[in-house]
Amino acid sequence: MSKVLVVGGGGREDALCRALAADPSVTAIFSAPGNPGTARVGERLPVDPTDGLAVVELSRRLGVDLVVIGPEAPLVAGVADALRDAGLVCFGPSAAAARLEGSKAFAKEVMAAAGVPTARSRVCRTASEVAAALDEFGPPYVVKNDGLAAGKGVVVTRDRAAALDHAEKCERVVVEEFLDGPEASLFVVTDGTNLVPLLPAQDFKRVADGDQGPNTGGMGAYAPLDWVSKDLVCEILERIAIPTLAEMRGRGIPFTGLLYLGLAFTSAGPKVVEFNARFGDPETQAILGLLESPFGEVLTAAARGELAGTTLRWRAGAAVTVVLAAAGYPGTPRLGDPIEGVDAVSPPAYVLHAGTELRDGVLVSAGGRVLAVNAVADTLEAARAAAYAGIEKISLDGGHFRRDIALRAARGEIRVPGDTR
Ligand code: AMP
Ligand code: GLY
Repeated sequence: MSKVLVVGGGGREDALCRALAADPSVTAIFSAPGNPGTARVGERLPVDPTDGLAVVELSRRLGVDLVVIGPEAPLVAGVADALRDAGLVCFGPSAAAARLEGSKAFAKEVMAAAGVPTARSRVCRTASEVAAALDEFGPPYVVKNDGLAAGKGVVVTRDRAAALDHAEKCERVVVEEFLDGPEASLFVVTDGTNLVPLLPAQDFKRVADGDQGPNTGGMGAYAPLDWVSKDLVCEILERIAIPTLAEMRGRGIPFTGLLYLGLAFTSAGPKVVEFNARFGDPETQAILGLLESPFGEVLTAAARGELAGTTLRWRAGAAVTVVLAAAGYPGTPRLGDPIEGVDAVSPPAYVLHAGTELRDGVLVSAGGRVLAVNAVADTLEAARAAAYAGIEKISLDGGHFRRDIALRAARGEIRVPGDTR
């Protein structure tokens, strides 16, 4: 029996709350600050997620057995440290370990020390260093803001002037070699030593169909990936996750929580595009739709250092998540528009809230990514059809979504280079 507090208030947190609610051992769920979706499973509390002392005080007052931190900002701000220092059980890495996400330069240094395959890169502080690095690696150019940027700090372009322009807007950038090949996300739950992978998923970072337009936080996702074999998952754990966790332990900053491996499958094997220190959004929405194991128990075991021997059970079939974004997103989104039709979405599709708010009883947009429609079905085609049938029922003035989430996978068009199955 346990009471859980989920910190954060986006689509990922709604998915976390929904999965926790399906675990019979979880008796109460709180969210801070949550959203109208998380409010369906338990009380919302208006707390700043990055304020460690406030989160500690709230957790004590609620008497929770587990705190799950969703977003990166509280992790980088040390909220997990504050909770553990206060003797509370927390799922999420320390600030020192969350630098794997908080600093691209730190992540590269850890990967180099651990022998983990990733794109060659240069950390640059001046325009001339940037120019030299662009010429060293050649087009397409990849320029990354060193710090947190909500998925929008990376520019991939063949336009050298645009690459230089992006670098100029950042204090410190990482310029790197372009990785060719399909991308996937593999999430690993870890207590710092033991680890268990979730199903691999793919997200869609660009705003428009056909991977056109600027990067976003993620416009949709699906899981599992029939083009990523179990052997390939094992290889990723052996070559990437296990050495990274060992390197972090060796530095005295063990990584506990969710290690997100953003991967590119190149002709030279899987390479790391990025690490994140928390569940990805919107992959989590798709993945957790398929989880059958008691989620609260798994997270508690990881948070307590007792993950050894844990395996996960998954429903057969597939899940597809389609994100509805507000007008203007990923630029400045227009907020406060009424959202209609959410209650018309019916199984196997369901709505997960992200940037929504209730204003005088009316559901309105309150963020760039407004909500996601998720569907779980026996095949990827059926899950796609159900998710799109669901999102068609929702109306939001100026709202937009991609029409090609999971389309190429459903057509069997994605191949890992060198995989001749
Ligand atoms: P990141 O925030 O590092 O995940 O980058 C966001 C997106 O930019 C990734 O999901 C990729 O689509 C793209 N990207 C980042 N690094 C590279 C790279 N070295 N080669 C190709 N694409 C990349
Ligand atoms: N899906 C990308 C992210 O969570 O950063």
